[in-house]
Amino acid sequence: MDLIIRNGTIISSKEGKQADLYIKNGKIDSIKECESYKEVPGAKVIDAANMLVMPGGVDVHTHLQMPFMGTHSTDDFRTGTIAAAMGGTTSIVDYVIPKRRESLKRALQNWHKKAKGKAIIDYGFHMALVPPVDRPVNEFEFLVESGVTSIKCFMAYKNSLMLSDTDLYRILAKAGEHNILTCIHAENGELIDYLTKDLLKQGKREPIFHAYSRPPGIEDESVSRVIKISKMTKSPVYFVHLSSKGGIKEIKRAKGNKQAVFAETCPQYTVLSEHRYFAKDFEGAKYVMSPPLRKYKHCSYIKKSIKDGVIDVIATDHCPFNFNKEKRRGLKDFTKIPNGMPGIETRMAVMFNEMVVKMGLDACKFVELNCTNPAKIFGLNQKGDIKPGLDADIAIWNPDLIWKIKHENLHENVDYTPFEDYVVTGKPVSVISRGEIIVENGKLTAEPGRGVYISRKISGSAYS
Ligand code: URP
Ligand code: ZN
Ligand code: ZN
Repeated sequence: MDLIIRNGTIISSKEGKQADLYIKNGKIDSIKECESYKEVPGAKVIDAANMLVMPGGVDVHTHLQMPFMGTHSTDDFRTGTIAAAMGGTTSIVDYVIPKRRESLKRALQNWHKKAKGKAIIDYGFHMALVPPVDRPVNEFEFLVESGVTSIKCFMAYKNSLMLSDTDLYRILAKAGEHNILTCIHAENGELIDYLTKDLLKQGKREPIFHAYSRPPGIEDESVSRVIKISKMTKSPVYFVHLSSKGGIKEIKRAKGNKQAVFAETCPQYTVLSEHRYFAKDFEGAKYVMSPPLRKYKHCSYIKKSIKDGVIDVIATDHCPFNFNKEKRRGLKDFTKIPNGMPGIETRMAVMFNEMVVKMGLDACKFVELNCTNPAKIFGLNQKGDIKPGLDADIAIWNPDLIWKIKHENLHENVDYTPFEDYVVTGKPVSVISRGEIIVENGKLTAEPGRGVYISRKISGSAYS
């Protein structure tokens, strides 16, 4: 069914204006002055007076049903994408993690199986490269043909996902030949391993020691080293989940030198700080993720970098584990706490509140970092903005609604939210995906399986 969204304030990455929007065959057909479309027969009319009409969110960093640290992240493609939709997100890009020595082709098939028939919104995949990398680097052509135009290298997690500098050099050189964008988890895994063993030797086993095993310098050093390797190989890099002032400063310098470097952060690194690890009764485990939460001065610097344009993308790194189950594995040893936290449903609201309500940034900037840039950088060419010809992926927001985030009201398949009791202004009330209303006035109205795979194009930002 075609749709007309009337009387809303349309916020694209470029401008905000009161107008009507006409959606035809799942695409944005046109945008015209208010009341222009009164006469379109057969189209459903949505009144968006006093609402913002924004693009649906694009979350380019998720881990659904991911095998990790001896367990699995608890959201699958059904629950995870329902939660995403309820929070105003209409596309995700999830990380495929191959098993050791598994071909990339097989790993990709496996992830397609996880998603098929389950997703409620559209989804794409990045491909992680895990050691040994000799065979995978020969499968890059296949990846691009399959719509997977970005890969990921972990510089942390020694003895599981971590790659050596030599691996990284070889991968980057080859990725550049295929116009593939390389995502980097930048933490110095060797030093983390050393510091961790040292802490355990001293009997330091509580959640706070997770943070002490990976101080900010661990990220800064890795970012700096990767930037140099990226320069040598002339291959662009995208840093995921940045958490530290030093790391972001390195990126700012590289961008100043016209190097093709992109920066992502996540809501948790802007609003949650290291003191969370001291929570009583093991509750600090809820915030055990890598990189860890930092002292508040890092959060402030990240927000300044969002404003200054150093940060390109806000994503979630959604990787949930139940506090009362999986996280308990590390009750006596922080190294056994599965790393990761939920956030797929709360990203848009937390960042709208931070960026637009608290920092006073233009809503277009919010759209740019949460929708448009991620789509552009990762070749989701039909997504991420409001303009004729693009997929009609829309979130209709009440910008004035003040509400408190409560786990009991969320849809993520996990027993807590790290943003419990956080008060935000602004909420997506209805969500549209390819012209179909999937959330209407806060109620889910679509069935799992309607989401389709997005075969992504080469990054227009990294290889223009
Ligand atoms: O702690 C985290 N971030 N878990 C998910 C895996 C990763 O490193 O992105
Ligand atoms: Zn990571
Ligand atoms: Zn991640």
